[in-house]
Amino acid sequence: PDDELQADFDALIEAEQRIEPRDWMPEAYRKTLIRQISQHAHSEIIGMQPEANWITRAPSLKRKAILMAKVQDEAGHGLYLYSAAQTLGIARDTMTEQLIEGRARYSSIFNYPTPTWADMGAIGWLVDGAAICNQVPLCRASYGPYGRAMVRICKEESFHQRQGFEILLELANGTPEQKQMAQDAVNRWYWPSLQMFGPPDDESPNSAQSMAWKIKRFSNDELRQRFVGMLVPQFEALGLECPDKDLRWNEETEQWDMGEIDWDEFFDVLKGHGHCNAQRLQHRRQAHEDGAWVREAAAEYARKQSAQLKA
Ligand code: ACO
Repeated sequence: PDDELQADFDALIEAEQRIEPRDWMPEAYRKTLIRQISQHAHSEIIGMQPEANWITRAPSLKRKAILMAKVQDEAGHGLYLYSAAQTLGIARDTMTEQLIEGRARYSSIFNYPTPTWADMGAIGWLVDGAAICNQVPLCRASYGPYGRAMVRICKEESFHQRQGFEILLELANGTPEQKQMAQDAVNRWYWPSLQMFGPPDDESPNSAQSMAWKIKRFSNDELRQRFVGMLVPQFEALGLECPDKDLRWNEETEQWDMGEIDWDEFFDVLKGHGHCNAQRLQHRRQAHEDGAWVREAAAEYARKQSAQLKA
C-alpha cells in the first residue's frame, strides 16, 4: 500500500495540487519541510533583535511607531510559521528548545550588528527585499499551510521593504554625512543579503529534492540573480553606489555577472562565528526565561477554564 500512497502523493505534486496535514506524505518530505519551516520561523523571531535595537532611539515618533509595528509583524510571521511546522507533527516546545540550545539554524543575516539608524533602512530595503524575492515563490509551495502562511507574510514584507527604501531615500537626500551613513550601511548589508539565498547551486545539498517536491520553485542562484536585477535601478533612484564594482549585465548569458561572494564568511557565520551569534542566542534564551510566568499563567488559566466547563 505504501507504493500506492507514494503514487497518489506523486500525482498530487505533479498536478500542482496541495499536500495538506492529514494527507500521506513521504517521511523525507515531512522532515525537509520541518527543517525549512522551523528555520524560517526562527529567522523571523531572531530577526526581531537587530531592529529592536533602534526602537528606543528612532529619530522621530513616527519612525518609532513604524519600526515597532514592523518588529511586531516579524513576531507574527514567526508565529504563523511555527503553527505551520506544528501541523507536521513537531511540538512548538521542541522547536524552541532547539533554538535556544543553539542546535537550530536561522538566517545568517541576523548575526550582523546595527550600529547606525541607516541600518534600519538597509535592513528594510536589502534584507526584507531579499526575503520577498525568496518568499514570493514559496506562496506556491506544495505544502498547503506553508504556502498560505507565505501569502500574508509577503504582503507585510513588501511594506517593510518600502519603509526601508524610504528611510534610505531620505538619508541619501539629506546632508553629506547622512548620505555617507546610508552608503556605509548599504556597503555592510549588501553582500550578506546576497548570502541569504543560500550557497551556490552546486553546493546546495537540499535544492534538487526540494525543487522536485515543489517546495522550492527556483534555485538559490536563480533567485539571487533576480534580486540583483531588481536592485540595480533602485540603487540609481537612491543615488547610492552598488558595493559590487564587478556587477555587469552579460548580453550573452543574459545574466548578471557578479563579483566574488565571500562564502568562507557565510559558512563561518553558519558555524556560529558571526559578530552577533552568541548575543542573539543569549538574548533569545533570556527572553524565553523571562516569559516563563506568562506561559505558566496561560496554562493555569486554560486548566481552570476546562475544569469549569466540566463542572
Ligand atoms: N542562513 C543560514 N543557513 C542557511 C542559509 C542562510 N542564509 N542559506 C542556506 N542555509 C543552510 C540551509 O538551511 C542548509 O542547512 P541544513 O541542511 O543544515 O538544514 C544548508 O545551509 C544548505 O543550504 P541549501 O541546501 O541551499 O538549503 P535549502 O534548500 O533549505 O535552501 C533557503 C536554503 C533558500 C534559505 C531555503 O531554506 C528557504 O527558502 N527558506 C525559507 C526562507 C527563509 O528561511 N528565510 C529566512 C530569512 S528571511 C526573514 O526571515 C525575514
